[in-house]
Amino acid sequence: MNYEILINRQNRCPTLSQDLVEVTPLFPKKRRKKIYLEKKVYQAFQKIQKEGLKYGYYFDIVEGYRSVKDQRKIFTQMIDRYSLEDAICMTAVPNFSEHHSGLAIDIEYCRRTKKGAYRKRKIRETDPEYSFLLQHMHQYGFILRYPKEKQLITQYRYEPWHFRYVGKKLANILYQEKLTLEEYYQKNYD
Ligand code: DAL
Ligand code: ZN
Repeated sequence: MNYEILINRQNRCPTLSQDLVEVTPLFPKKRRKKIYLEKKVYQAFQKIQKEGLKYGYYFDIVEGYRSVKDQRKIFTQMIDRYSLEDAICMTAVPNFSEHHSGLAIDIEYCRRTKKGAYRKRKIRETDPEYSFLLQHMHQYGFILRYPKEKQLITQYRYEPWHFRYVGKKLANILYQEKLTLEEYYQKNYD
């Protein structure tokens, strides 16, 4: 498995032989669809999940592996809701999503309310959970894939919840040099 693979608006997700495993949530939802991830990616996420617990942060995965069929459904819904022009900046065209690879995760967190119930939310820029992820994710092999200041390069809107596993070595390089995967490929392979 090539964890450094570039999948974006120009590069479709090739046929991959992933070792997909089912994700066990910390806080299961009543009617939950099953979530799958590439095995190594899940193992890395479990480490960050464990580290988060030390700080009182409860991380879960809301999206992992996605089939082309599911992507088509989401993409169609986005066009209906917004416009084609907006949809292509937020959702990948089927076959061109990183989620097909099992290497991308959308993270949500859970917070206990005073009454003891729990509330789940996708990561947002202002959350302390987000600062924690920004500081630590690279140490476990993940990068923030669609940063706010790189939207012209990634060609997608800012997604504070979407992280991509690229392996520890590359994640550290991209983090230190503040590069997107696109810039890294351009610098090294063009
Ligand atoms: N939201 C990201 C770009 C995707 O659909 O893969
Ligand atoms: Zn995503």
